[in-house]
Amino acid sequence: MEERRLGPVVGLGTWNTFDGDASLARAVVDAAFDAGARVFDSSPMYRGAEASLGSALAGRGTVATKIWARSVDEGREQLARQREWFGRVDVEQIHNLVSWRQHVDWLKEEHDGLLGVTHYASGAFGELAEALRTQLFDVVQLPYNPHEREVEQELLPLAAELGVRVIVMRPLAEGALVRRQVDPAALRELGVETWPQALLKWALSDERVDLVIPATRRPERTRENARAGEPPWFTPEQRALVEELAA
Ligand SMILES: NC(=O)c1ccc[n+]([C@@H]2O[C@H](COP(=O)([O-])OP(=O)(O)OC[C@H]3O[C@@H](n4cnc5c(N)ncnc54)[C@H](OP(=O)(O)O)[C@@H]3O)[C@@H](O)[C@H]2O)c1
Repeated sequence: MEERRLGPVVGLGTWNTFDGDASLARAVVDAAFDAGARVFDSSPMYRGAEASLGSALAGRGTVATKIWARSVDEGREQLARQREWFGRVDVEQIHNLVSWRQHVDWLKEEHDGLLGVTHYASGAFGELAEALRTQLFDVVQLPYNPHEREVEQELLPLAAELGVRVIVMRPLAEGALVRRQVDPAALRELGVETWPQALLKWALSDERVDLVIPATRRPERTRENARAGEPPWFTPEQRALVEELAA
């Protein structure tokens, strides 16, 4: 799989998939690892996902998780638990910008990996840009798929200008975009085997993107998704075809 600034370009999200089911987490994570994925995204918001991801990883891979806390004390407790589950956190992200001005100072002192910030809603993208302009963040996580392209206006150009690494959440629109039949001839024209691969490749064909983190509870889909991380990347015409098919 191609590697960019965060490692192999297809990782794994963990929202609403294995939750606290450690044996399912192990099956999905092992399959993702075998397929070449190395970056695993989680959050205290995803109920039991951090704990089960930690036991499944057993020290392997790159951990990107989040602080989702109103107060500094609660944030510090989250970091302490994450160190128990994962051993270390490689990318710590402030989830949904919650109390980001409060968290950034202590995280700069106490976290020794990359620092990121995330939001899923376009109404918050102005504040996300404001956070990036402080130049305190190394990573931004944002939604990007053919139905959600607002990040093209400000955030992707800004991230490129500031050298901020980009993680794409919801590359399959939470599954909404995969529930359609696509003409096999169109897939051949795109050089992919499946429609989900076309969607992942659509995001990765934007060179400002470092990583997509599709989530799945089905081990076999991690292999299908990982194969989207191989070049060649789409031409502008192929990207336009994916947009047309997704419309
Ligand atoms: N959603 C958010 O607002 C949000 C916010 C912040 C961060 N994130 C992070 O970003 C990650 C990704 O976003 P997401 O989980 O919301 O959405 P997503 O990755 O766009 O879509 C996940 C859905 O796609 C399905 N899927 C995955 N691979 C598939 C394939 N090859 N074929 C068919 N269906 C497939 C999964 O179902 P199956 O399980 O049945 O395969 C799941 O329902 C999250 O897990 C989380 O780590 C998300």
